[in-house]
Amino acid sequence: MKFFIDTANLEHIKEAEALGVLDGVTTNPSLMAKEGITGKDNILKHYSAICNIVEGDVSAEVIATDFEGMVREGEELAALHPQIVVKLPMIADGVKACKYFSDKGIKTNVTLVFSAGQALLAAKAGAAFVSPFIGRLDDISTDGLNLISEIRQIYYNYGFETQILAASVRHTMHVINCAKLGADVMTGPLSSIYGLLKHPLTDIGLAQFLADYKKGNSSNY
Ligand code: E4P
Repeated sequence: MKFFIDTANLEHIKEAEALGVLDGVTTNPSLMAKEGITGKDNILKHYSAICNIVEGDVSAEVIATDFEGMVREGEELAALHPQIVVKLPMIADGVKACKYFSDKGIKTNVTLVFSAGQALLAAKAGAAFVSPFIGRLDDISTDGLNLISEIRQIYYNYGFETQILAASVRHTMHVINCAKLGADVMTGPLSSIYGLLKHPLTDIGLAQFLADYKKGNSSNY
């Protein structure tokens, strides 16, 4: 399973990268706004800065909602850096733009996916990634994880190569459950990755090992 971090915060991206487990980054206009990144030039520079921190895929979202606008913006984003994946919304023009970019060999991530039918369309249009938003489904009392299972089954049935990028991951159990269900990628906040580390028996065991070592040794190796 690949780990992407869902943020535009460069410090969080650096921290996840330093841990050695980061495979990519996803952003969206809300995450850029949260970091105070505004204006086209600053936004494009910020994407380049992210690409210089990580080695993997970096999803950059278009703002246009019409086909021509998405193509224009997507081409500009893709030209920024080979790691850029053009992120397109799941609307009719987004599906058309997805087909356009996949025919040109440019990777796409179809976002704002909330149903199996939408995921089927994204795969048919040649998306490199499909982003089902599991947390936002959970927020409205709908089982987000069930959507991952449905998409996994459909893609398996027909051998679609589109990667399931579990998005709107909010916490560590989302990560674990997505891994159990066979999501190819998860994207979540830094806290969802760090949460995987924690176990009280690890802390207790380490404290005991160190205490026992100190009984017979006055310094480290
Ligand atoms: C995915 O690419 C989105 O950026 C993201 O996962 C949305 O998460 P949220 O529902 O926590 O805003």
